[in-house]
Order: sequence, then structure tokens, then C-alpha cells
Amino acid sequence: MEMNIALLPGDGIGPEVINQAVKVVKAIGERFGHQITFTEAIVGATAIDQVGNPYPDATHNICLQSDAVLFGAIGDPKYDNDPKAKVRPEQGLLEMRRKLGLFCNVRPTFTFPSLLHKSPLKQERIEGTDLVFLRELTGGIYFGEPRGRNEQGTKAFDTNIYSVEEIERLARMGFEFAQKRRKLLTCVDKANVMATSRLWRETVQRLAPEYPDVTVEYEFVDAVAMRLIQWPKAYDVLITENLFGDILTDEASVITGSMGLMPSASLGLTTKLFEPIHGSYPQAAGKDIANPLATVLSAAMMFEYAFGLMDEANAISDAVNLSLEEGVVTEDISDGGKSYKTSEIGDWLVKQIQKKKSILM
Ligand SMILES: NC(=O)c1ccc[n+]([C@@H]2O[C@H](COP(=O)([O-])OP(=O)(O)OC[C@H]3O[C@@H](n4cnc5c(N)ncnc54)[C@H](O)[C@@H]3O)[C@@H](O)[C@H]2O)c1
Repeated sequence: MEMNIALLPGDGIGPEVINQAVKVVKAIGERFGHQITFTEAIVGATAIDQVGNPYPDATHNICLQSDAVLFGAIGDPKYDNDPKAKVRPEQGLLEMRRKLGLFCNVRPTFTFPSLLHKSPLKQERIEGTDLVFLRELTGGIYFGEPRGRNEQGTKAFDTNIYSVEEIERLARMGFEFAQKRRKLLTCVDKANVMATSRLWRETVQRLAPEYPDVTVEYEFVDAVAMRLIQWPKAYDVLITENLFGDILTDEASVITGSMGLMPSASLGLTTKLFEPIHGSYPQAAGKDIANPLATVLSAAMMFEYAFGLMDEANAISDAVNLSLEEGVVTEDISDGGKSYKTSEIGDWLVKQIQKKKSILM
């Protein structure tokens, strides 16, 4: 297959982790006989520094013309520490999601047997967790207008707004995901208090009869925040609005054990995008110590969701699992034992993928 992939490394550790994903994707291309072309583009603080815009038109056009986007991370302390900065890297992220119509962020949460002890949660509670969040990504309070301050600057406001159309397209994806999995869908809202949440619930209730094989549960976000770390195995597919999803998916990363392990996919109206859930981890930038596995696993999701290639996706997940089992890990999950550099992990994964090729040949 021919694949055109846009690479948006971004800031901080973004370029380092993207480099490892690229090595792995190239190795997969060689093993399975795909022709893969990469086109790199700027985003985030790097793009502000170069052209004054965190998501330049040139980058957007490259994304639109590609079959998939691999994204690293954005963010720089010089903007984090300057609340008055007029242009911010995060605006680039929101603009990219909006312009590419990426309304559904898919965030799987699962455990790795060799890392169960890394989680602060009890092993018996989390072992076997396999859930996926579908977070609405282009609506709600992060985008709603009006927003801002009164004239005196003494009051601030944001607007949470959702249309039936926005809820329905996300909910339908939720039902379809559930149909391919354990057929349980949880709608996470705050319908006892918020009008937007009542519209969410009403819309999901209207759609439910179209998916009779899926059991639907409705749960308030505060209850989910609790139950998610008490009994994560109770969940299969969860759908929720932008703000709730942002918070709950970071909470869910505790189950896996490290931010450096969690991949995600953003799906919607145009090119699909794949990115780790972590940020630019500026403290580690340039040190070759960041965990690249979340980005590598995002590349696995790319093969599955953008190209429908499960063998390729599984080959990456298998190599990642093996690296964890054999202790070929970065310092964030090495428990003070031997640790490897970001680039060494990438090279090791490539060798595993190549080894399998020679066994098969
Ligand atoms: N999608 C994105 O690009 C995104 C997401 C979140 C934050 N950010 C931005 O990133 C910058 C830093 O934010 P933050 O410190 O809150 O979040 P962060 O995810 O960058 O880092 C939080 C902590 O998680 C751990 N961590 C994250 N990635 C890791 C990796 N690959 N390997 C090992 N450990 C890892 C580190 O302990 C780190 O201190 C900010 O500018 C923020 O705005 C960007």
C-alpha cells in the first residue's frame, strides 16, 4: 500500500519521540511491503517562533493532503509562564483539531502485565482493564462563545455549548466501537445539573434503539471519576464531552502506569491524527530520556484506524510488549534499574520487527 504520512513533531520531547515512531513505521513498511512517504511540518511553539502562527496554513495543507498525521506534542515554558502571551502553542492544537474536523478522540486504557506494579492502584483492581474513551474534541467549553472577561476584568466566563449534530456523530462512533468490543456503552454526563448534559443524554437515548445489541449505561461524571479507579474493569466504551474527557482520560493514565505509555487517535471529517496523550515534557527535551512508547503505540493505532492494517498494528504492539517484558525501558518505568535512552528503545523495537521478518522469510 502507498501511504503519505504528515509528521508534526512539535515542541519539547515531540521530535525525539516522533523520531522513534518513524523508525518503527519504516521498519513495518519494509517488513510488510508498504511504500511510506513522510512530509514534515511545523506546529506549536516551534511554528510561532518561525512564522508567528502555531498552526500555519502550510502545515494544515500538508495534513489535508496526507493519509494520516503523526503528531508529537506542543508546549513551551516560555508561553506557559507568560499568561499575557497573545499567541500560544495550545491555540495551534485547538485550531488543528477544529480545522481538520477531528471531533472524536479515541483513548484506549489497558494494562501491561509487566507494569502492573507501577500503578499506584491495587493490582487486582486494574489487572485486565480494557476500556476506551471517546472524547468529543471540537465542541463544548473549550470552543464555546462568548468567552472572556467583563470590562473591569473582575469576572470571567466560558460557554459550554453542544448541538444535537455534534453529540450524535460522537455517540454513533461510541455505539459502533461498542459493537466491535464488549457491547457496553457508558454515557458520561452531568445531566442532573447541566443543560448540555441533558441534551447528551436525550440524544443517546434516542439513538439507542438503533443499536439493540449494545447495552447503554448513563453515569454522572463525578461518579465515573470515582469508579474509574475503583473498578475500571466495569467499563468498555465511554463517551463524553470535551472537558470531562480531558480530565477523565488523564486520570485513566494512572491505571496504565505512565503518561509515556498512552496513545490516542483523533478521528473526524478529514485526515485522521495520531498522538501520544502526554505533553511536550520540557524538562526532558533534548536529553534522550523520554518514553517513546506512547508515540510508537499511536503509530500502531494509525495502521489500524487510518489504513485498516491489523497485522501491522499488532506487530508494533507485540514489539512494545516484548520490550516491557524484557525490561528494555526508559527511566520513567525502570524502577531505578537499568534504563535505556529514547533512541535505544526505537532501535530495539526496529530490530524486533526486522527479526520477525527474517523468521517469516
Ligand atoms: N497534546 C499536547 O501537545 C499537550 C498535552 C498536554 C500538555 N501539553 C503542554 O506540554 C507542556 C508540559 O505540560 P505538562 O508538564 O502538564 O504535561 P506533560 O505530559 O508534558 O508532562 C507531565 C509529566 O508526565 C510525565 N511524562 C510525560 N510524557 C512523558 C514521556 N514521554 N516519558 C516519560 N514521562 C513522561 C513526566 O513526569 C512529566 O513531568 C505544557 O506546555 C502543556 O501546555 C501539550
